[in-house]
Amino acid sequence: MPKPIYLDYNATTPHDPEVIAAMRPFLEEEFGNPSSSHWYGIKPKKAVIEARNKVAALLNCREDEIYFTSGGTESNNHAIKGIAHVHRKKGNHIITSQIEHPAVLEVCGFLEGLGFEVSYLPVDEHGLVTVTEIEQAIRPETILITIMQANNEVGTIQPIEEIARSAKNRRIMVHTDAAQTIGKIPAEVDGLGVDLLSIAGHKVYAPKGVGALYIRNGIKLEKYMHGAGQEMEKRAGTENVLEIVGLGKACEIAKRDLERNMKHMQTLRDRLYEGIKKRWEETKLNGHPQKRLPNTLSLSFYDLEANRILEEIGLEVAASAGAACHSDTVEVSHVLEAIGVPLDWAKGTLRLTTGRMTTEAEIDRAMQVICDAVEKLKS
Ligand SMILES: Cc1ncc(COP(=O)(O)O)c(C=O)c1O
Repeated sequence: MPKPIYLDYNATTPHDPEVIAAMRPFLEEEFGNPSSSHWYGIKPKKAVIEARNKVAALLNCREDEIYFTSGGTESNNHAIKGIAHVHRKKGNHIITSQIEHPAVLEVCGFLEGLGFEVSYLPVDEHGLVTVTEIEQAIRPETILITIMQANNEVGTIQPIEEIARSAKNRRIMVHTDAAQTIGKIPAEVDGLGVDLLSIAGHKVYAPKGVGALYIRNGIKLEKYMHGAGQEMEKRAGTENVLEIVGLGKACEIAKRDLERNMKHMQTLRDRLYEGIKKRWEETKLNGHPQKRLPNTLSLSFYDLEANRILEEIGLEVAASAGAACHSDTVEVSHVLEAIGVPLDWAKGTLRLTTGRMTTEAEIDRAMQVICDAVEKLKS
């Protein structure tokens, strides 16, 4: 039986064949420790240096501003806790938004337990944070603003440049979670004006369990992992050479093919949307109509249950739900709740996300399967 059509690229991505080829020698032969001074350490050490250069080239920063981590979650933890602890004497207030990933929200909640104060800013009906809201939330004791570059569920892209400009005038640090944007839209740190930026490897066709954190030179951050001196004394532990090589290659491809991939993902996403809309008008698009990731389509179907749609289409299409219906309750995602999607719409929300490997034929088939399921469940 053929595999279901994969339309869940915001959850994770397949490994790019070029990434696999780059990693293969480090899986099969090059097992050396990059810290070893003998022959076996030479190639792994060189590979880690090259990977760091590639990540830095993508973000347009210096290579000594890139720290490898275990993924988006660790990068966010390091950035937020690291700033909070070092700057505690200056202040104890952090600003974030209500629609961040749990890898930010849970960290903020943890810090609240340690006495920090956190403002969780609301968003508008498209999922946008406004600079005015940020400026109104700033206090003399604000030390950090952490706002995601783009949302994983609805794809809305935040005005990070404006936020960073406003923060800079007040000497407040800015972190952005770019887990969903690498390889989908530009994410150069100087253009964005951020001090810290998180990357997740498995969202950009590299393996799971690897990521990176950009820390602008001169920014003091508490050490995350204590032990030996790897990662410029910030994150101890023998380097995950295999996956670091994969991340480096993935970032090289993300930079090289950005324009082409953006166009490809958007064309197919829009084809899917138009196709569904033509057959089934009673749908609602979530997220910003324009300021949105080129691959992300969050669609609500009125008075239907997302889990039921996913069950119907499951053998042919793999996608995500924006809400989970239980016997007598509906658990709507915090993102749909924050943007104010009415319950009758929110409970029937699918997240369909395209990627580099998506084809036109897959989109046409997926459109048919989804519309057939919706029609069946409605009748
Ligand atoms: C916006 C965002 N931030 C952080 C993460 C966590 O990244 P990782 O799975 O690499 O820990 C994800 C993954 O879903 C994400 O979408």
